Amino acid sequence: MEQTMTGLVRAATLADVRKRGYLTVQLQGNTVALFYHNDQVYAVDNRCPHMGFPLDKGSVRDGILTCYWHYARFDVATGGTFDQFADDVRVFPVTIMDDDVWVDVSPRSNAVAHQRQRLRLGLERDISLVIGKAVLVLLDADGSGIEPFRTGLDFGVHYRDAGWGQGLTMHTCMMNLLPHLAPVDRPRALYHGLSAVARDSAGRPPRFGVPPLPGENQDLATLKRWLRRFITVHDNEGAERCVVSALRNGATSQQMADMLFAAVTDHRYIDIGHPADFTNKAFEALDTAGWENAEAVLTTLVRGYANAARMEESNAWRNPVDLIAILEVAFEQLPTAWSEGEKQRAAVPTAGELRSQHAELLLGDDPQAAVDALIASLRAGAAPADIAGAVVYAAALRIARFHTSNELGDWDTALHTFTFANAIQQGLRRAPSPELFRGVLDAAMSIYLDRFLNIPAARIPQPNGRQHASEADLADLTQLLDRQQQVNQAGQQVAHYLFGGGESAPLLAQLGRLLLREDRDFHTIQMVEAAFRQVGQVDDATARTHFLVAASRYLAAHAPTLRAQGQTYQIAQRLHQGDRLFEED
Ligand code: FES
Repeated sequence: MEQTMTGLVRAATLADVRKRGYLTVQLQGNTVALFYHNDQVYAVDNRCPHMGFPLDKGSVRDGILTCYWHYARFDVATGGTFDQFADDVRVFPVTIMDDDVWVDVSPRSNAVAHQRQRLRLGLERDISLVIGKAVLVLLDADGSGIEPFRTGLDFGVHYRDAGWGQGLTMHTCMMNLLPHLAPVDRPRALYHGLSAVARDSAGRPPRFGVPPLPGENQDLATLKRWLRRFITVHDNEGAERCVVSALRNGATSQQMADMLFAAVTDHRYIDIGHPADFTNKAFEALDTAGWENAEAVLTTLVRGYANAARMEESNAWRNPVDLIAILEVAFEQLPTAWSEGEKQRAAVPTAGELRSQHAELLLGDDPQAAVDALIASLRAGAAPADIAGAVVYAAALRIARFHTSNELGDWDTALHTFTFANAIQQGLRRAPSPELFRGVLDAAMSIYLDRFLNIPAARIPQPNGRQHASEADLADLTQLLDRQQQVNQAGQQVAHYLFGGGESAPLLAQLGRLLLREDRDFHTIQMVEAAFRQVGQVDDATARTHFLVAASRYLAAHAPTLRAQGQTYQIAQRLHQGDRLFEED
């Protein structure tokens, strides 16, 4: 193969290409299709950028090259596609010298910049394959994943008029899971999250924010009060103006968390906990993407607050036991209990002691006793986030004890309580306040209402004396989740691995992998992510085991799916690796 100093490689004789109309040649690792059209020679990468079908099996008519698999069309001269599900195909500069065709196959230097554009296009057009291919290149360039995460966040908050929803929540969950995953699984997590954002925005009008109040130096306390008043009367635009004004007046992350978490807990367990979870996720997204995105992100939350169903208006929270009445009395006690507790933080029970003290009461059938015990702990000086942690733990136990004789949809009832309780606890860690502590009591009431899910209760796996855990246990878990409804078996497998001394990190990586191989399911993603969060924050091995038993049981109840989304990702991955999907040797 002859080559010049400028990177030109002799590819064929002009006569050959002219005679045959097209010719396929191997040039320094590239399979190049040469097309003779209108007295010109064009050189094109022979792999269709859509799914790798050989373009030399296609046709050129009127300057348009058409792939013969899904009929993507390309301008043969520039490589530009007319079908955005594909991509522009790479073309190589051609020079004719002495009746020979020379092709410049110098490496393309702008692959990352190109895939940034492609990611945006994949989001705009909701094309998962395009998203997958872009993510693989971008993560190769920067393993943190922050850049594609930011791109998805920016897209999602601007192109969904309803504001923050399931897509952005899944996107943030996936980003949170990234550090727990094996490196090979990380692009797949981002692919799932970004695809969820694209799906959630597809076909929806964009969001136009409201401007801040004119002038400067708005009083934050006043804005907070107005925000809450506007939410109460379902006025989302007035509420949004308060949020954007607070941000333009320099409110900090903690001040904004205080304001928004107060608003989201002014009414009882709104929309079965989703707006509180979305709020938590929005702040976590900003932790990753940067506070400079706060206005675009936080303003998307308030419509969900204003339009939400409020449990004080529901029958289940009023009859046969008036839980709202119990809560209203407790709320009156909260400011005093909070300030008394603040004065005596020294002699407090640990988070583990609080879990032990409260779990059975919370899982019992006396809501008044549960509320009284939580208020008493607060008054005695226990840290609010630790009390909230005891409630999160009890909510996880509902799932760990969930009996499979319940209907499949009932898993979500327990899941909603757990993710709500987790969101409230994370909020209290971020911006503690008596107002937000109302959410802890709401979660306690929801745990009470979920008690029928544990009648009868599934048995929580106990240590069985086994001393060894191995990778084979994790492989067995994988096989279990290839079969339907291996709920108790999956929980036992996880418990036996951990009780046998298995490390958490490989188990988390494996559970993450098992989540990613299934089709995206909002609730399963929420479940696994919240359980991982708790595992990272609790100091007790038994509690960690119970969180992961709950997560694995939930996952097993919702597996296997068709795994069609994984198939799309695998195609992207094989193309990225340079596998020849269809090309003949
Ligand atoms: S259009 Fe070429 S592989 Fe799909």
